[in-house]
Amino acid sequence: KQAPRAQWASRLGFVLAAAGSAIGLGNIWKFPYITGQNGGGAFVLVYLVSIAIVGLPIMMAELMIGRQTRRDAVGAFIKLEGKRSPWCAAGWISVAAAFIICSYYSVVAGWTLEYLYRSLLDSFSGQPAAAIEGMFGGLTANGPRQLFWHFVFMILCLGIVIGGVQKGIERWNKILMPILFALMVLLFLNGLFSAGAWQGLAFMFRPDFGKLTPGSVLEALGHAFFTLSLGMAAMITYGSYLNRKENLLSASFRVVLLDTTISLMAGVAIFSVVFSVNMQPAAGPGLVFKTIPVVFSQLPGGQFLAIVFFLLLAFAALTSNISLLEAQVAYLIDERGWGRKRASAFLAGLAFVVGIPTALSYNLLSEWKVVAGLVFFDAADLLASNYLLPLSGLVTAIYVGWFWSGAEEKQQLLAGGAGWVYPAWHFLIRYISPLAVAVVLYFKVRDTGLFAWIAALLG
Ligand code: PHE
Ligand code: NA
Repeated sequence: KQAPRAQWASRLGFVLAAAGSAIGLGNIWKFPYITGQNGGGAFVLVYLVSIAIVGLPIMMAELMIGRQTRRDAVGAFIKLEGKRSPWCAAGWISVAAAFIICSYYSVVAGWTLEYLYRSLLDSFSGQPAAAIEGMFGGLTANGPRQLFWHFVFMILCLGIVIGGVQKGIERWNKILMPILFALMVLLFLNGLFSAGAWQGLAFMFRPDFGKLTPGSVLEALGHAFFTLSLGMAAMITYGSYLNRKENLLSASFRVVLLDTTISLMAGVAIFSVVFSVNMQPAAGPGLVFKTIPVVFSQLPGGQFLAIVFFLLLAFAALTSNISLLEAQVAYLIDERGWGRKRASAFLAGLAFVVGIPTALSYNLLSEWKVVAGLVFFDAADLLASNYLLPLSGLVTAIYVGWFWSGAEEKQQLLAGGAGWVYPAWHFLIRYISPLAVAVVLYFKVRDTGLFAWIAALLG
């Protein structure tokens, strides 16, 4: 006999859990530097439009599918269309993406734990910049150490997910997310009161339309997807625990608003202090793991700021990764009849093992290892975030826009919002979102050489 399906205990619990999934490394690490690279305010504008016309409608679609079916992402499509339906591909692809991303997200999250630990030991203060920057290379060349933190991080995820929806995920998000917001406000204010505040604000918000290329538009659209945890089974799964009485539009709106606010605050917080010590805004891992520790080492109260920053990053990563783990756990529970404990332990263990090559991929012990490792890391990242996410998002949008009758959910949207909400959402999910995602997918495939690869295969 089946136990009644778990539900969030409160709307606040759902909003914090979904915001916990959405707010992650993508907000605090990636968003700031892609904004800087793509024309500041001009890019922010494009990004906000992407969020509104692609992100929000698809998030609502995923939550609706979850709530209507009360199943994991694979089971949701099975329940709607039957086991043999091709639509089930959307479910499978998204759970596969969750699986891949869960493992390497954990390796990067492990780096944040190492930096948190070093901040607590005060190992940055008074060190020359070159020595601090060198620490990142030292860490990534140290396989066992990365594996240790990767392991610790997966254990933390496991500890939360094993507790279940209310007593694990909801409870911990209710503790971690308010702390995360408080830490962010602290760093934001610190940025605003630093000498580089104007420069930081300008870097983030002054529009430079000259830097805006077609590539920036694609980047904005792609990031809208990643940042809202779409196409990765997470939102379908979290939606499946959502009470039928909740207003889906306003709940989604809150999640999107929180995610966007944190991204913008993170940009100001980071670049203001970077400029205040006359450093250059670097891109990639260097920004968070090299530039930031150097910056803090030169500021008064730097140790405290570093602790706050890396704690923030670790919490953001943790609440995101548990949603990826839960998406897979729900599949084993709903479709395979596993118990939660067994499913969580199995999947956390598997994610740990699969993450090992990623952790070793920066290992500089020998040339071939670097090559083998980087190929693996790149392949995992490329496959998951460039192909699987847009692909499952595209299928989901087309399905919900054109083929899903979803009477109950759609009527609720009709009844729940102002008169324009349903028609607006329906128009976006039918025409705009699939078109935008298809364009992103086309260019990703073209630019990463998949066409050439397929052409070669076909001889
Ligand atoms: N949204 C998270 C971020 O911005 C990443 C993520 C994607 C988490 C998908 C869960 C699922 O970092
Ligand atoms: Na995000």
